[in-house]
Amino acid sequence: IGDCTRCKLCRGRKKLVFGEGSSKARLVFVGEAPGREEDIEGKPFVGEAGKLLTKIIESGMGIGRKDVYIGNVIKCRPPNNRDPEKNEIETCLPFLEEQIRIINPEVICALGRIAAQELSGRDFHMTKERGQWFSYLDIPVMPTFHPAYLLRNPSAKRQVWEDDKKIMKHLGLEVKSNG
Ligand code: URA
Repeated sequence: IGDCTRCKLCRGRKKLVFGEGSSKARLVFVGEAPGREEDIEGKPFVGEAGKLLTKIIESGMGIGRKDVYIGNVIKCRPPNNRDPEKNEIETCLPFLEEQIRIINPEVICALGRIAAQELSGRDFHMTKERGQWFSYLDIPVMPTFHPAYLLRNPSAKRQVWEDDKKIMKHLGLEVKSNG
């Protein structure tokens, strides 16, 4: 991807956030786009939502954050965290596709509407459609609420745990009684 200047988001970014984790990951998380902290550090999910995601992965699912792969639909922070525009997504999505092709995980977890929409290739209504498998490049995808949504709506954590348990079962991991 290099020092990408393919779309206008390059003008406002500090660092491009490519993604991080294991190239042998069985599980890939896909978020939307870097936020303020991620833009500064150049790493995905390191701000408040990221801390919650790390807790979900490690304390909830019992997997090391370094053993999964975490990426985003968009690699550069949109100004003031606005939604990514259609042309920005179209420009950036081939890189996510290639990341997923190379890793070839057993499961993908789509975090939030934008990720679910782009991986499913259609409009997505998270409140109605979370928790139901679909597939991307023949890989099962579990759509669930974005951790930033959970910070605003903590009661939805229960539903995310239900979705995470489905992922764990698919991976043959032991599911504890609560997250
Ligand atoms: N939100 C996202 O969707 N991705 C990040 O990397 C951080 C926050």
